[in-house]
Amino acid sequence: MPSYTKSHVQFELNGEHVTVEEPDPKAVLGDYLRLERGLTGLQMPCRQGGCGSCTVILSPIRCSSSDSSSSSSSSSSGKKKKKDAVHVAAANHAGDDDGGSGGGDDDEPLKHRPVNACLLPLCSVDGKRVTTVEGIGSTKHGLHPVQQAIVTHNGTQCGFCTPGMVMSMYGLVVNNSQPTTQQVEDQLDGNLCRCTGYRPILDGFQTFANCNNNNNKRMCNKSGEQCASECDKKGDMEELGSKRMERWELPDARLMVSRDGLKWVRAVSLDELYALLQTTKHKGRTIRMVRGNTSSGIYPPPPVDVLADISHISKLMELSVQEKGISIGGAVPITDFMVLLERNQSLSPSYGPLLKHLKRVAHNQVRNIGSVAGNLMLTHAHGEFASDISTILMAAEAKLRVGFAWENGDEHVISLEQFFNLSLDGAVIVEIFIPVMKASARFFTYKVALRRVNAHALFNAGFKLAVNSTKGVFESNCVIVYGGVRPYPQRARKTEAYLAGKKVFDPKVFADAVQILQRELVVDPALGRTEYRTRLLATFFYKAFLSLFPIDTIPPRLRSSIVEYVRPVSQGEISFDEGDPSEYPVSKPIPKLSAGLQATGEAQYLDDMVVGGSLYATFVQATVANAALKSIDPSKALAMKGVITFISAASLKADKYCNLVSEDEEVFASERVLYYGQAVGLIVANTKALADEAAKLVVVTYSDVQKPILTFEDAIAADSFYEDRRVDLQIGTPEIAMQSADVVIEGQASVGHQYHFHLETQRAICIPGEDNSMDVYSSTQNPSQVQHCVGVGLNQPQHKITVHVKRLGGAYGSKLNRAVPIAMACALAADKLQKPVKLILDIGTNMQVVGGRSPYHCDYKIGVMKDGRITSLQLRILNNHGAHFDFEYPMLEAIPVFIDNVYKIPNWDIKGKAARTNLPACTWMRGPVFVETVFMMETMMEHVASVLGMAPDLVREVNMYKKGDTTLAGQYLEFCNVKEVLDSIKESSGYETRVKQVKEFNSLNQWVKRGISLIPVKFSASWTAVQHIALVNIYPDGSISIHQSGCEMGQGLDVKVAQVAAMTLGSIVEGGLDMANIKVQTTTTVIANNVGESGGSVTSELCAMAVQVACNKLVERLRVTSRMLTTLGRKPSWHELIEAALTSGIDLQARARIYPGPNQNGPFQYLSFAAAVTEVEVDILTGDTRILRGDILLDCGKSLNPAIDIGQVHGAYVQGIGYYLSEEYQIDAANGKLTTNSTWNYKVPSSKDIPHDFRASLLPNSSNPSGFLRSKFSGEPPYGTACSVLFAVQQAVAAGREEIGANDWCSLSAPATVEKVALAANVPTSFLSLPLQSQ
Ligand SMILES: Cc1cc2nc3c(=O)[nH]c(=O)nc-3n(C[C@H](O)[C@H](O)[C@H](O)COP(=O)(O)OP(=O)(O)OC[C@H]3O[C@@H](n4cnc5c(N)ncnc54)[C@H](O)[C@@H]3O)c2cc1C
Ligand code: FES
Ligand code: FES
Repeated sequence: MPSYTKSHVQFELNGEHVTVEEPDPKAVLGDYLRLERGLTGLQMPCRQGGCGSCTVILSPIRCSSSDSSSSSSSSSSGKKKKKDAVHVAAANHAGDDDGGSGGGDDDEPLKHRPVNACLLPLCSVDGKRVTTVEGIGSTKHGLHPVQQAIVTHNGTQCGFCTPGMVMSMYGLVVNNSQPTTQQVEDQLDGNLCRCTGYRPILDGFQTFANCNNNNNKRMCNKSGEQCASECDKKGDMEELGSKRMERWELPDARLMVSRDGLKWVRAVSLDELYALLQTTKHKGRTIRMVRGNTSSGIYPPPPVDVLADISHISKLMELSVQEKGISIGGAVPITDFMVLLERNQSLSPSYGPLLKHLKRVAHNQVRNIGSVAGNLMLTHAHGEFASDISTILMAAEAKLRVGFAWENGDEHVISLEQFFNLSLDGAVIVEIFIPVMKASARFFTYKVALRRVNAHALFNAGFKLAVNSTKGVFESNCVIVYGGVRPYPQRARKTEAYLAGKKVFDPKVFADAVQILQRELVVDPALGRTEYRTRLLATFFYKAFLSLFPIDTIPPRLRSSIVEYVRPVSQGEISFDEGDPSEYPVSKPIPKLSAGLQATGEAQYLDDMVVGGSLYATFVQATVANAALKSIDPSKALAMKGVITFISAASLKADKYCNLVSEDEEVFASERVLYYGQAVGLIVANTKALADEAAKLVVVTYSDVQKPILTFEDAIAADSFYEDRRVDLQIGTPEIAMQSADVVIEGQASVGHQYHFHLETQRAICIPGEDNSMDVYSSTQNPSQVQHCVGVGLNQPQHKITVHVKRLGGAYGSKLNRAVPIAMACALAADKLQKPVKLILDIGTNMQVVGGRSPYHCDYKIGVMKDGRITSLQLRILNNHGAHFDFEYPMLEAIPVFIDNVYKIPNWDIKGKAARTNLPACTWMRGPVFVETVFMMETMMEHVASVLGMAPDLVREVNMYKKGDTTLAGQYLEFCNVKEVLDSIKESSGYETRVKQVKEFNSLNQWVKRGISLIPVKFSASWTAVQHIALVNIYPDGSISIHQSGCEMGQGLDVKVAQVAAMTLGSIVEGGLDMANIKVQTTTTVIANNVGESGGSVTSELCAMAVQVACNKLVERLRVTSRMLTTLGRKPSWHELIEAALTSGIDLQARARIYPGPNQNGPFQYLSFAAAVTEVEVDILTGDTRILRGDILLDCGKSLNPAIDIGQVHGAYVQGIGYYLSEEYQIDAANGKLTTNSTWNYKVPSSKDIPHDFRASLLPNSSNPSGFLRSKFSGEPPYGTACSVLFAVQQAVAAGREEIGANDWCSLSAPATVEKVALAANVPTSFLSLPLQSQ
């Protein structure tokens, strides 16, 4: 064994040399950066590689000559193909080679790699360079152009994702300062944003795309003006890239660090690795090889004694091109493999399709460091994982060279089939060889997933179809592989054998082959989605088979079935009125005040706060859903060094604390556990990792374990409903009207759960103070409520509890009521221990305990006349609310507010009840009840149109409210511009023409169909009972601070209140007031006592109104001074005025409270209308859906800040896309556990799921006499319009069903996942026709 002398890790961090002595081998870079270096720009919400918020750049330090076996990258291109193997050094981020020489290659295309710091082991960055968001620009010294771009284009809302977005994009431009638009579009596939809808981020980043792009109408980050195609950004980028390219010679590449019995050993040759594997085994210890470590978040590995870093073994980093194929070493990242394939596409018909498929594997950050071999080994360990790489490489007949440590490194060349049947103890994948296929062979691969990118396959397949073109028959060496049929990729050997010698263009061959295929590959039900997977077995085979036919023999209607979908570079347009200059800065499109802070990572979120001496808490959670608590034994946890205490209902009682969150809910379950994941206690320890580990050791036993009530069916069977929460509403004479209707239609509409997916999870920090006081830093949208409940919990008056909220990293309603139990648990621990305590939920816990949006089911009966007028509605609505009531969550009571949407229906009979189930209580989520009931109503509109054979928009128009009507909830429509909104969007979107085009498209295409849907919505602002407060201070230097009671969570509240303050105070000074003078402070209950929550879309207006009232008080006081200083018509400047006011002793502090009273027109201050037109294209056979275009129009009155309001339109609509298409909740029927509890299995939209063409507008020339400064809210209404996505898909499915002769009504429930869509289309295999003329 060689000597491993180096036991410290050295690397370059943002230009600084860093040495970490004996680090923890388990530590990941992200934790080190955040906790040890205070670099809190990166966030780590998922720790799974799933969200991209932790993106940093990993680069080589040395750019010295590469070793002798390396050639320049151009040697790997097909152009320089040599007979002998050509070895190519892998990209120089990789480790040093055997000889310790630099692994660098200046010609490599990707020196600087965006990677996920949440997965990257700290030890693995030894000898490299790390750049974080703090390292590229700052508000003090200037923003980097990438940071500036996201600011200028309003690409930040809550800002939690922003540093990750910035670093991904920086990673592109630092390698390539003139990227193409396609490269920019592709770069963000590993970054999720829940707020912005991606459009503004993409628009901002597209400014870096090649300036010669003809269509570059974007704003330049340098000049701030429209791109003139003249600027050379290369200079900027090179300067930044090279600034830190200094050489730093490192000692020996070997490394061994150990801590607490765990070792990290970096082997630098295969021999060393084998020796390490052997000695570890001989010592009876366990070992795991680590390359990218990217698999560790999605499939956490069991603990081991030794981690062997294999990334510095040069043999494993080689890439080579030979006459018979290409090969890559066992540590080569997927990205490098892709580059090799790209350069050698011409060598084999399989290389291009492999490359295309790999673009849909994981995402940039994972591919940049995650290896092909690591993927294969992951699949070997977890057969149920439908690995794309395993499937497509098996289909490409890849061969592996595997070395076995127990055989002293003897190597065996094996196929992937053999590989998956082999015990791999001590095995190292040394090389993967992908043979060149005969030019006559055709190679196809397929994948379906819940999302376009950053989503593992639900099902995949690869086909090598070898054809003897002279004889027109299949050769004997076809290969058919499916992933997701049963564990491990499966070859369809019998089908392959059947095909040999059979005619290629014979439909009977296909029909017989499908039967054989379906017999030999029976889908394993344990993998779920059995029917869908079974269907796809035939579908993928059909697509491959059909693709063999010469295109001119394929009937035109069938051709689109085989055209591979290639998402174009997306684009967008925004439009709004420029506003009124006399009111500026109000009505001006101004970026968020904190956008710069967010883009540089300087913005502080709760967990970024440094709190000296803080302890860390973790919940102990129930693992059953409906049982009595028998015992809780924390002794093992408490025995761990560093664990401080355990708190439970019993201990709270003993300490005389209150365990109640509300009448309905306990902080910790005391007697009975109501749902899986419910908190039964809290472990407090010195570190978070320790608390997490200790919480797992608390032993909880249960008795009387009952079958949980989870679904509507369960609730009906057990008659489990909230008796006092029923809705029973009769308007008119529904029964009589139903009888006299021309047609009576019955149907159902269902929507599922939705998780908020705020990237910043629920959290609190509590700091006890003197005299039993407590400072609570809470991620809440409702500080007053937290203050009240913490006071109750601690048995202390409210004046001793101070709640602070600086900003939230996303909330969308989840941090209203659901922040309370977290803050209470944390405060109880802090009070008991009299020490600061942090309680930060991980994403899995957060998803499990926060119930999300409620599922609804509606059985409807519609009485309708032949002309489309609905005369009567009977609705029976069920809601699955969960185990307890979530404070005042309105739910069923709010149904009449929204269910009518924009329609006047004279007779109603609504009965609704809420199921009490063993699930966490559902809670508010953006547009609660509104979004769900709009969907119900619009389902009915579509159903009526389908039955009457009318255009859906006609049915809508016939029933639409007009000015002077009164809504179902009793709002008199003094103003009603829904028709105007509808007409406007019809016109601007070209709706009528496109409806015809969709019809035409559908008549010309059999299995790819389009749909287009136009949905109008009404939203009601309930602000009459909400109070808000503002306190405005003017300081002697003229600077102004504003405290207000709303919480900034990305909605742009701060900038709107600052605009209003600047307009109001600026009215009495010359040249107005520069907004730079204004700072909006942290929200705190010191100022904001007894106020409403931030939610319901109205907070910005009400807080701005409070600020205006306070500022007007100041203006009144300052007006006399202003007049005195006004000379020759020139008012004083702001500073002159304040100086004079100070000497006059004017009070420069003012406060205002807003409590809007009832409105004469009904329960709401005003109504807002919006509409969307969405066009989709659906692969009817797979269910794959792409949104071609989305137009959304919102009546925002006279917008206070159109940039902010357009951002709300984008964000709300895209959240809706997830709700309606991909965000699937799955619950374990046995115990109520949420199985979709991470980024791995819960899929919110990515940047590649938004419309190809995304247009958001605010209604021009609008004004709202009932709104604040004639504006309207923007946060929720656009969400309601997103159901147009689902209805467009439904129309496409209906068109697909017509192909099989099914003309009946077929509705989709939400979310309409790929699976649901394909099953709804229900195309039998017998309909998968082939060209007849070629027989
Ligand atoms: C967010 C995300 C999305 C993903 N999406 C997809 C997807 O869409 N499709 C898909 O197919 N995959 C997907 N993956 C899986 C991804 O491809 C793998 O995580 C990655 O390839 C693993 O490579 P690694 O180098 O990081 O392996 P590591 O995590 O370092 O190692 C994985 C295993 O392989 C072993 N190992 C590594 N190299 C060798 C070797 N040379 N010899 C022997 N053993 C070795 C390790 O010991 C370990 O047991 C996704 C992963 C993530 C995190
Ligand atoms: S925290 Fe690293 S990807 Fe989500
Ligand atoms: S701004 Fe992207 S998650 Fe909030």
